[in-house]
Amino acid sequence: MITLAITSQKGGVGKTTLAINLAHAFARSGRRTLLVDSDPQGSVGLSLTRQSRHLSGFYDMLGNPSVSAEKIIVPTRMPTLSLVASGHSSAYELGGGSMGVTLHRVRCFLAEVEALDYDICIIDTAAGLFGATADVLSACNGVIVPQQAEPLGVRSVPKMLEALARMRVVNPQLQVLGVVLTMLKEELTESRESAAALRNLLPAEMVMQTVVPRDDLYVRASARGLPVGVMEEGEESLATFDALRSELERRIVPANPETPDYAE
Ligand SMILES: Nc1ncnc2c1ncn2[C@@H]1O[C@H](COP(=O)(O)OP(=O)(O)OP(=O)(O)O)[C@@H](O)[C@H]1O
Ligand SMILES: [Mg+2]
Repeated sequence: MITLAITSQKGGVGKTTLAINLAHAFARSGRRTLLVDSDPQGSVGLSLTRQSRHLSGFYDMLGNPSVSAEKIIVPTRMPTLSLVASGHSSAYELGGGSMGVTLHRVRCFLAEVEALDYDICIIDTAAGLFGATADVLSACNGVIVPQQAEPLGVRSVPKMLEALARMRVVNPQLQVLGVVLTMLKEELTESRESAAALRNLLPAEMVMQTVVPRDDLYVRASARGLPVGVMEEGEESLATFDALRSELERRIVPANPETPDYAE
């Protein structure tokens, strides 16, 4: 099973949007996909099922060994797409989660998910590399970093990638798959220039070819609790996330000798 974390140093760069739409793309391709919300804000849950605030989820599992993966997985209308909501995080936020213990819980959870025959588990995280996100990264085998195509923040990306590479001390399996440029506004010079600046700053293979354009449709989709591809006029975005999915698949497949190991 592929386990993929979506992480960034900065907030609001499009992690949740990427997680939802990428999970949708993998599910459409026939892969049994589990989308997990590990952000205490609970954004994925909010988008996908309105009642999810009341659902038990990721943090209930972290805090209680009797909460199994099976108990917190929620089906969606798509047979190949299921979801784990964020759940009740207050105990964890009050200091109930200490790294060693919760890392063990995350690993147990992923082992259970694999035993349930999922092909891929995509985990949306809160911004920053601490707390539960550190445990998720210590347990996953791939990580993607979305970055807004805007002037502020681009220069912090190499540092973020270095920090992720250092996580390989704890988790040698972790493949840093690269950066996805999000919210690119093609008609805005500053946005185009920021995208170019990021490509200049990093080794070419570290930035995905596929770019997520800025489009109000994404805001409307999240307000309606839907992946953007199922919206009327959402057709084009299906192609975007299909392209991103194949790009990732080419990088992830460990059997492919050409798969570069970016974190080295
Ligand atoms: N490609 C896009 N075009 C336009 N708006 C977008 C796009 N992607 C995301 N947004 C909007 O930008 C806001 C932030 O996106 P999102 O919630 O995905 O970011 P995030 O990184 O998960 O944020 P947080 O750090 O708070 O979890 C949301 O209102 C979302 O609808
Ligand atoms: Mg989010």
